[in-house]
Amino acid sequence: MDGHDLVRSVRMLTADRVIGAARMFGTAQGLRSVRSAWRRHRADAVGLPHGGAEMARVPGPAYGADPQPGGGVVHFARSSLRVRVAAGGAVFCGWDGAGPEPSYALAGPCPEADRRAVLEPDTGGGWRVVSERVMVAVSRHGAVEVRTPGGVVLRRELPPRWWDRVAQEPAVRRPLASRWVQRSEVPADARFFGLGGRADGPRLRAGSYRLWNTDPGGAFVPGDDPLSITMPVQLVVADAGTHLVFHDNSWDGRVRLREGAEGAGSGHDRPGRCELRMDGGPLRYWILVGAPARVLQGWTALTGAPALPPRWALGHQHARWGFGSEAEVRRVVAGYRERGLPLSAVHLDIDHYDGHRVFTVDRAAFPALPALARELRAQGVRLVSIVDPGVKAEPGSAVYDSGAAAGAFVRDARGREVRGLVWPGEAVFPDFTDARVRKWWGGLYAERLAQGFSGVWHDMNEPVSFAAFGEATLPRSARHALEGRGGDHREAHNIYGLAMARAGYEGLCQLRPQERPFLFSRSGWAGLQRYGGTWSGDVATGWPGLRASLSLVLGLGLCGVPYSGPDVGGFSGVPSAELYLRWFQLAAYLPLFRTHSALYAGRREPWEYGPEVLEHARAALLERERLLPYFVTLAHLARLTGAPYVRPVWWEEPRDRALRDCGDAFLLGDALLVAPVLEEGVRQRTVRLPRGRWYDTATGHAYDGPGQVRLATPLSRIAVLARAGAVLPVTGAQGRMELETWAPAAGRTGSAVVVPDAGDGWQRPVVERFVSRWAQGRVVVERTEEGQAAREAGYPVRVRGTGRESRPD
Ligand code: GLC
Repeated sequence: MDGHDLVRSVRMLTADRVIGAARMFGTAQGLRSVRSAWRRHRADAVGLPHGGAEMARVPGPAYGADPQPGGGVVHFARSSLRVRVAAGGAVFCGWDGAGPEPSYALAGPCPEADRRAVLEPDTGGGWRVVSERVMVAVSRHGAVEVRTPGGVVLRRELPPRWWDRVAQEPAVRRPLASRWVQRSEVPADARFFGLGGRADGPRLRAGSYRLWNTDPGGAFVPGDDPLSITMPVQLVVADAGTHLVFHDNSWDGRVRLREGAEGAGSGHDRPGRCELRMDGGPLRYWILVGAPARVLQGWTALTGAPALPPRWALGHQHARWGFGSEAEVRRVVAGYRERGLPLSAVHLDIDHYDGHRVFTVDRAAFPALPALARELRAQGVRLVSIVDPGVKAEPGSAVYDSGAAAGAFVRDARGREVRGLVWPGEAVFPDFTDARVRKWWGGLYAERLAQGFSGVWHDMNEPVSFAAFGEATLPRSARHALEGRGGDHREAHNIYGLAMARAGYEGLCQLRPQERPFLFSRSGWAGLQRYGGTWSGDVATGWPGLRASLSLVLGLGLCGVPYSGPDVGGFSGVPSAELYLRWFQLAAYLPLFRTHSALYAGRREPWEYGPEVLEHARAALLERERLLPYFVTLAHLARLTGAPYVRPVWWEEPRDRALRDCGDAFLLGDALLVAPVLEEGVRQRTVRLPRGRWYDTATGHAYDGPGQVRLATPLSRIAVLARAGAVLPVTGAQGRMELETWAPAAGRTGSAVVVPDAGDGWQRPVVERFVSRWAQGRVVVERTEEGQAAREAGYPVRVRGTGRESRPD
């Protein structure tokens, strides 16, 4: 930002933001946010490299190539491109010598090369690498085509362009950092998904999407971009095939998308376009090709299997900013109990801290937290704690002193601690990109465990530092260890939340090795799923916010982060009874099912919205409780296969264009199709069905897809359909697991995988397989084992969809 921009943005923003901050935290805090913003600006003025000419560069003509295992390197006059197919089929491309490591996204060492993939000369003076699932063709000028083995083009990348910054002093005429742009084309019918959590999806239409994790500052609505989790991960779905592209680069950037258009038989299709511009960092990327399930499997093989939440984290959770006292927590928990409403966890927000200081407790309001935790645990309710990264800059306080002694806090270019402003006031920020700091921070969770907390909720980790103008984060010039390589916040910003999640996860594993950690984080990046899930952040109360909630969950699932959910009722305001109920009904089918609201936004207990809402919310809660074994299975399957619990309706039929454009319904695993109500006053809605037979679970009516049906969605329910032949594990009588099966269509069979809960530890899951079929006029469910004939299911079975519903045997 130059001086003029600064003055302009100060004029534009200061008044609003200072008044906002002052209203929320008092005038003193409002003024501090001005000071904090100035400090940030000054730090960058001296700490960032300035000046220097920029020189544009393209690869130039190719002059040779060296084969290597899995592919090879093509040499151009002014760059080089490495193409390497890894075992499993993922293809790595790296320009300018970039390799796949180091990487914050990869779960482990880069996978072995697939030695069957070889580099060979292509027509027109280019080269190509042919592998089992994909062919990559590199033209003489550096365009790259990704083709199916049959030769159909999935993506065409034009030669990239760099702008190398060269230091002004002639003695140091070497590139300092390069911005770059890469433009690509995709088939005219292609649809884009992903890029992390976007409020405007799940289908990403024409527009510009920034890659810079950002707290929207107040509540967000569709149209607000970027949000807390951005990822350079695109899933592109076209008739020709599905592919995922991941640019492994954490710098600030921007993706511009434009969907294509078909020439209606004229042969003049306009391809879809994608332009990626990055402020720096390597130009390297991974491509995965195949059916959506296969792509997600490859993606999570690369970036890590999703952490398995404990069973209780799949039940209903109630959060609140401003419980204010132990008595209020007890009152709310008792309210759930007395009304027969299942509840599995209560989340305490920053108001339970002493003066908003992380890893402390306000002893006046919460005098005996461990005892409260024990008491709630006896009722089957866990406590979850918010954990913010900002540490109050307060010599004499234990957390600050131990961090300062360990040199744990981010420093500026001159070596001084970077001071920002967060809830506790002036704050410093741990550098989670340093293994030593992660260890120190992870150890601090001992205090949370001693207070009786069972899980953690990471917040404000974009990271946020309140500012009256400019960006509400750390200076770009702030220094980071980056695992010993050294660098600044331009590179570390987007992976800050991811690295914090790693610190928390590893700390909890060490401190309580017998239990799996429960962690979810507002910010993150590719690979976050290794450590936990996320939630919507501060989604605005309102019908658009409800729609955005679903978009976020679907989009994040396609980026490999399957566990998430919104603040039921929205974060920022008082929802109408109807909006609250519809949000509740949707979230009952999402992995994280949590009510939450801001300090000033009213209550979210189901009984606060009148008797009718209470009755319908109870039905949603009881159904969630009944489906818990199914959610447990979905959590295991996400871990084992990378398939998100919540999937777009095109998941199995990506070539069905009508399904591809449908963003108001989703598949929950293989068995259920959920069509929530996302608009006010709607009492029936259209549902687009994938192929096969589907039963409306409320009425038992069967419908045959593909096609559209209109289903009743009275206030008491949203539309939930079950796939014919599905076998769902559910909670039956006396809490035992039973199997609910929906009759296969005549002459058809169904199948299912069930993974029963094996506790909160690290037990290896037992995967059970079942088939459902008609036999002598009855539907039977049998267990299949490899190499063995099917035999009785071994669980009570309830058959539905036959017109004559049977009881479990
Ligand atoms: C942030 C979080 C929100 C939390 C609040 C106070 O806005 O997104 O969930 O309640 O901070 O900690």
